[in-house]
Amino acid sequence: MTPEVVDVRILVTGGTGQLGSAVVAWLRAAGEEVRVLSRRAAPDVVRGDLRTGRGVDNAVAGVDAIVHCATDFLHETALARTLVEAARWAGAPHLVYVSIVGVDRVPLGYYRAKHETERLIAASGLPVTIQRATQFHGLVRRLLASATRLPVVPVPRMSFQPVDVRDVAARLTDLALDDPAGRVHDFGGPEILTAAELAQAVGEASGRVRRIAPLKVPGETFRAYADGGHLAPEHREGRITFREYLSDHARM
Ligand SMILES: NC(=O)c1ccc[n+]([C@@H]2O[C@H](COP(=O)([O-])OP(=O)(O)OC[C@H]3O[C@@H](n4cnc5c(N)ncnc54)[C@H](OP(=O)(O)O)[C@@H]3O)[C@@H](O)[C@H]2O)c1
Repeated sequence: MTPEVVDVRILVTGGTGQLGSAVVAWLRAAGEEVRVLSRRAAPDVVRGDLRTGRGVDNAVAGVDAIVHCATDFLHETALARTLVEAARWAGAPHLVYVSIVGVDRVPLGYYRAKHETERLIAASGLPVTIQRATQFHGLVRRLLASATRLPVVPVPRMSFQPVDVRDVAARLTDLALDDPAGRVHDFGGPEILTAAELAQAVGEASGRVRRIAPLKVPGETFRAYADGGHLAPEHREGRITFREYLSDHARM
């Protein structure tokens, strides 16, 4: 049976990605029929490309809600524009967009594009929900991966509030099944830890503890991070800690 002929209620763009695959798992566990949009041919996906528009009309047809997790560092807003146009044509389903805490505070090109995309979606006339989240555990672990390789590990003098994609996925599932809510409050991880503490945890998890050297990094982007522009201290909503994530992914 192909996904097109099933009575699907929810489309997940980026459903093959880190967050999107967790959203698909949560929605299916909640008993929902889910359609995944991907550029790749795979079982159980509707093939389509949000850059070219190919296959997108087919993917959005007949759905009640779309959780938009697809992302492209260079074309974030263009992807959303294509999706919004297709969604209008398909009867205006509830569009849930995942963004990043601090997109309006940290002057990074990708963050600016995410902020512009938030505005595009908010002004689309569609019923929408916009959820900002802090950095995912996997991203923070990748950023600090040298903690397992170098004799002395240089880390930026700043903090992170990493969150588990399973926690974010649970929130997005609730939001997708609920009424459109516009921009909702931020979703952050359970702890705010310095990069040095996080690098220490990565080193310990790999059994290779190294000396860690926190460094001040020049530039306005780093200053915005050092000032905590990407943190949501009032919203420690995620439950899975960074160390729990590391132990769950010990062999990955
Ligand atoms: N990473 C973080 O720390 C973090 C923190 C907060 C919020 N977020 C946000 O969470 C969202 C998901 O991030 P992620 O890290 O889970 O992403 P990811 O793992 O890099 O996955 C990206 C997804 O986008 C899809 N995609 C890319 N270009 C596409 C196109 N032209 N047409 C259709 N699909 C396309 C890919 O699907 P195919 O390759 O299968 O086509 C893939 O499933 C993003 O909006 C990101 O900004 C991320």
